[in-house]
Amino acid sequence: MKLIVTGGAGFIGSNMILHLHKNYPDVEIVNIDKLTYASDLSYLEPIKQSDRYRFKKLDIVDRDAVHDFFQKWNPDGIIHLAAESHVDNSIKGPEPFVYSNVVGTFNLLEESRLLWEKNEKTLNPRRFLHISTDEVYGTLGDEGSFNETTSYAPNSPYSASKASSDFLVRSYHHTFGMNTVITNCSNNYGPHQHDEKLIPTVIRKALAGEEIPVYGKGDNVRDWLFVDDHCNALATVFFKGKAGEQYNIGGDNEWMNLELVNHICQILNQEYGEGPDGDYRNLISFVTDRLGHDYRYAVNASKIKKELGWKPSQDFDNMLRQTVRWFMKKYGYLQS
Ligand SMILES: NC(=O)c1ccc[n+]([C@@H]2O[C@H](COP(=O)([O-])OP(=O)(O)OC[C@H]3O[C@@H](n4cnc5c(N)ncnc54)[C@H](O)[C@@H]3O)[C@@H](O)[C@H]2O)c1
Repeated sequence: MKLIVTGGAGFIGSNMILHLHKNYPDVEIVNIDKLTYASDLSYLEPIKQSDRYRFKKLDIVDRDAVHDFFQKWNPDGIIHLAAESHVDNSIKGPEPFVYSNVVGTFNLLEESRLLWEKNEKTLNPRRFLHISTDEVYGTLGDEGSFNETTSYAPNSPYSASKASSDFLVRSYHHTFGMNTVITNCSNNYGPHQHDEKLIPTVIRKALAGEEIPVYGKGDNVRDWLFVDDHCNALATVFFKGKAGEQYNIGGDNEWMNLELVNHICQILNQEYGEGPDGDYRNLISFVTDRLGHDYRYAVNASKIKKELGWKPSQDFDNMLRQTVRWFMKKYGYLQS
């Protein structure tokens, strides 16, 4: 089976390619990625020499390039992760989010359709998995959680661009009978995450003795899932999910931002010795809140659990500690 993984040089994409390469020996993977600031190909060094992996630098916004590549490679499936992914950047400059997330997804759908339509009489076995976020559902109060029938109500340019791409994918199933599946996952954490995101920022700032910025009062709530659990869920949906369906993925692991930051500081106190004045928590500094900051996200993942038998396997405390150690090595505070 020949698969295209888009955005494979990013955080989840690189973990996903390593996961597929390790667990699915019959799969050949080509990673297409524009190599934005958020990417790092070195994460794929371990499989660089493999004859089941190759890399192609490609911008999915470039329709001609996508066309040529799809015709040449003739993939059996697409796992689509490429996106501009940072909410703060979408507030500073939304335009690349519309191009990469909406136009890019359209180009991939349209080129897959044109390539795969030869089998239009039956539902094509070739599958398009689109990876999305729980942020498309908008924000919650203190109670409740998002399920697959929750109405979309995206609040940031990032989540609006992801919602738009989800709708395009949905329409390609309903209109053209394409074999699509969509997943909506909560916040991921783990190795390879870009420095700009919350957990790497806390670790980097704390170890450098700089103020650790926390938005507003730090009372926003997010659900956290270890990236390898997400990759396992994506593979499960790709191979076993039902065409045209949408699956929520989450960790049943809600944390208020301030509590999570405190927890990471305590891990650092234990792993690297005490921070300033005996505790890294003394570096926490409350900063002006993000514009339109969603208060709470919580994911009801019972559909994927019940129908496909997936469940998160990783214990949060243990995996968070391993993640902290991974970043300590990356930032030069721990020898390998
Ligand atoms: N990180 C999370 O917590 C999370 C949670 C749920 C869903 N998601 C979704 O998962 C996907 C991957 O997220 P991530 O955190 O790994 O993002 P990331 O920013 O770490 O990586 C994105 C990758 O996409 C590539 N890319 C961006 N624009 C491109 C373009 N025009 N053409 C080709 N490649 C392009 C980048 O170079 C980068 O390698 C995204 O679609 C995101 O919306 C992420």
